Amino acid sequence: MRELVYYVAVSIDGYIADPDGGFEALLIDGDHASVVFGEFADALPVQAHAALGIEPPGTRFDTVVMGWNTLTPALALGIPSPYPHLRQVVASRHRRDVAPAITLTDDPVATVRRLKQEDGPDIWLCGGGELAGALRPDIDRLILKRYPVALGSGIPLFGAARYEPHRFTLAGTRPFESGVVIEEYIRPGRA
Ligand SMILES: NC(=O)c1ccc[n+]([C@@H]2O[C@H](COP(=O)([O-])OP(=O)(O)OC[C@H]3O[C@@H](n4cnc5c(N)ncnc54)[C@H](OP(=O)(O)O)[C@@H]3O)[C@@H](O)[C@H]2O)c1
Repeated sequence: MRELVYYVAVSIDGYIADPDGGFEALLIDGDHASVVFGEFADALPVQAHAALGIEPPGTRFDTVVMGWNTLTPALALGIPSPYPHLRQVVASRHRRDVAPAITLTDDPVATVRRLKQEDGPDIWLCGGGELAGALRPDIDRLILKRYPVALGSGIPLFGAARYEPHRFTLAGTRPFESGVVIEEYIRPGRA
């Protein structure tokens, strides 16, 4: 069964964006880019592929799941389908006018559980925090790009999820000269 992988950039203190939804404070250049642009090139949006002149490999992920607030920055930039190389599933409790390439779901837990039964590369949980909070019990692997900055406030990794400890097993850490550490955790019982 393929995995639901929450691959996300996060601050030292566990925020994925600032209080207004921006993430400029998390953007730093450096040697971790080799992983972001290489191993995880499937998780780059269409404009990044165009700017970098690279083709998404299609080997790490074939599906992205995101919350409505994570799609809206792309819409504001005039990009209705930010990940056209992936199947794009967007959680919303409202009827929304979206590009044909986007599938809306008002029950992301059921949708993800169904998708996980299919064969293929893994499913990327892009975020944001609210959706990740709802999907927390279904996350098989956490890959955190931990940036060396403390925001103090912002959008938490799991939104306002209720207190309910879920243990993960540390599978590895990769520190970079940039100060970024890529931390990988798996749900107990996964290989
Ligand atoms: N650092 C990173 O790598 C990273 C990655 C992704 C996102 N982000 C940032 O995170 C921020 C967005 O996070 P967020 O927590 O505010 O929002 P979010 O999870 O992206 O979206 C929240 C919206 O998604 C829908 N939704 C969420 N859970 C749902 C559920 N269980 N059932 C049905 N619909 C559901 C609802 O949409 P409706 O209101 O339409 O019902 C809800 O208002 C953005 O600023 C984004 O830039 C950062």
